[in-house]
Amino acid sequence: MAQGPGASLNEFIQIDHVKKEYVSGRRTINALRGIDLTIAGGEWVTLLGPSGCGKSTLLNILSGIDRPTSGTVTINGTEISSRTEEQLSQWRGQNVGIIFQFFQLMPTLTALENVVLPMDLAGRGRDRTRASELLNRVGIAELGSNLPSELSGGEQQRVAIARALANDPPLILADEPTGNLDSETGDRVLALFHELWQQGKTIIMVTHDRSIAERGSRTIELRDGLVMRDSAWMETSEDESSELADPYYATSGARDV
Ligand SMILES: Nc1ncnc2c1ncn2[C@@H]1O[C@H](COP(=O)(O)OP(=O)(O)OP(=O)(O)O)[C@@H](O)[C@H]1O
Ligand SMILES: [Mg+2]
Repeated sequence: MAQGPGASLNEFIQIDHVKKEYVSGRRTINALRGIDLTIAGGEWVTLLGPSGCGKSTLLNILSGIDRPTSGTVTINGTEISSRTEEQLSQWRGQNVGIIFQFFQLMPTLTALENVVLPMDLAGRGRDRTRASELLNRVGIAELGSNLPSELSGGEQQRVAIARALANDPPLILADEPTGNLDSETGDRVLALFHELWQQGKTIIMVTHDRSIAERGSRTIELRDGLVMRDSAWMETSEDESSELADPYYATSGARDV
């Protein structure tokens, strides 16, 4: 299985028989109809599939924002589906960085304060030096005092990535992180994901775009709440070669991180 150099743990995420039903009036929507997946530490999984197939639902269950109707999710040894809300939010703060399509920054806080916030919530204190370093790492060190409304979409998404890294979580979940960016800015954001993957983060990223999905190390396609295709099913021993295991080389042959 293709993994970044920091790869570890063959069963970092274990998803067993996960179903999610939403009841809306008299209608029941089967958003997930039985998902079984094992994801190793250090994989960069891209989730593809048509609108409504359950991609965001699955991501929200992995972050503990939403709960499965049945089935279990174990991440890094923690069975998250049976935790209380309080335990879950504490667990999430330490273990998961979440990046959304519409950035979802706090509009009244500066870029730097947006990055400090999750540290504060996790009880790490307001480490502004670390927040500055993270903004520097995503290439916008000079924009820390700007409000989100004073930043471009690409800059806002970079703040959101820095915020997701605030507590150095092993798992990054991203729902269409380049969906609102032009292709050049999107490319820069994807290069950042590539860097994180190389540093050993496990990444699960939703996208509509097959060419973006190919940047990851494993592509999983959902259809009607089920896994329809998983590139891991088709892997041969050839895929273990180091060059092919690096998706950025495999797709673009370039690296300008
Ligand atoms: N809170 C909710 N209440 C009721 N139905 C919901 C809710 N959230 C999602 N659904 C339904 O569950 C199904 C899966 O939704 P989901 O948001 O996971 O799709 P998606 O694959 O992320 O789609 P998109 O690509 O449009 O973002 C859809 O039919 C959706 O309408
Ligand atoms: Mg969605």
